[in-house]
Amino acid sequence: VPRILTGIKPTGSPHLGNYLGMIRPALAASATPGDHVSLYFIADYHALTSVHDRARMAQLVKEVAATWLAFFPNFDPARVVFYRQSDVPETFELAWILACFTSKGWMNKAHAYKAQLAVNEAARTDPDAGIDCGLYMYPVLMAADILLLDSDGVPVGKDQVQHSDIAQRINHTYGGEVLHLPEALVDDAVAIVPGLDGRKMSKSYDNTIPLFLSASQLRKKINSIPTDSTPPEAPKDPATSLIFTLYKMIAPPEETAALADRYRAGIGWGAAKAELANMLEAHLAAPRARYEELMANPDRLDEILARGAERARALAKPVMERVRRAIGIAR
Ligand code: ADP
Ligand code: TRP
Repeated sequence: VPRILTGIKPTGSPHLGNYLGMIRPALAASATPGDHVSLYFIADYHALTSVHDRARMAQLVKEVAATWLAFFPNFDPARVVFYRQSDVPETFELAWILACFTSKGWMNKAHAYKAQLAVNEAARTDPDAGIDCGLYMYPVLMAADILLLDSDGVPVGKDQVQHSDIAQRINHTYGGEVLHLPEALVDDAVAIVPGLDGRKMSKSYDNTIPLFLSASQLRKKINSIPTDSTPPEAPKDPATSLIFTLYKMIAPPEETAALADRYRAGIGWGAAKAELANMLEAHLAAPRARYEELMANPDRLDEILARGAERARALAKPVMERVRRAIGIAR
């Protein structure tokens, strides 16, 4: 059964963009019966490149774990393995091995590093400013996550397909398939969710709709979307409305079509916002209740993650044995 692996970096409170862009597609994929196993993990050691506040780290890991579990209430452990990266120490052993087969020159081309380098060059500061070895090594750790579990598919962006080069170098050195080469599943179908200011919804722009606001905070958030002063009876173009775009991304097609007609006939912005808030509330009320329950029961959360880690480590074991044998460090 093919294994599809996804890492979730806990660097911010989950927002609507994360849900529509990542959680919902994951949910849809794991609902397809029997054709693959989904491996989802909280990439807490990836977050350590930027989160250096102890309480915040603990809080974000908890929030992200509770968010995913809130949307996967009764996941089938035969089809979904949900775990915390730091609970699978073999990851870091493999990362070191991979590092020994990764040339520094090749790492210079890695995306996260190059992005910071570009910032430094633009600011005419020291090119190494703000770049620690964790950021520099990010792709190696990511390759370890992927290769450790013999993943078959990884749904990542094009800029993140770096693991296969490293795996190929090891396979070439020792001959044969020491590491299993996965496929990068680049999904162009998932639309970018706009934020409250119209730019891409992102924690870096402070324009997000956090997933688990209270019902009244959620309404307030939606009401804060800026609108112009066109009178309620004036026809409005749904295609150019941010409020409509967000509605369309969550509502069923018939309801979307019906609301588009109301826009064209003339709808007040207050009413348009109420429609969006109602639709969001209908989607989020049940997950919110589950989320709050999990956040109030950290032991339950830890227990689920521990069970996932046990399963992930069982998958990692034969891979590590294979790798150690290949390099001559067998147990
Ligand atoms: P942020 O931009 O808030 O820092 P991340 O980069 O942590 O979000 O995103 C984690 C995942 O959530 C991404 O890989 C992507 O799949 C999804 N995602 C984030 N923001 C959006 C968005 N605005 N639209 C669609 N998907 C998004
Ligand atoms: N790099 C991903 C991100 O920034 C998170 C991640 C870590 C990941 N390891 C992974 C994703 C392995 C897919 C596979 O969001």
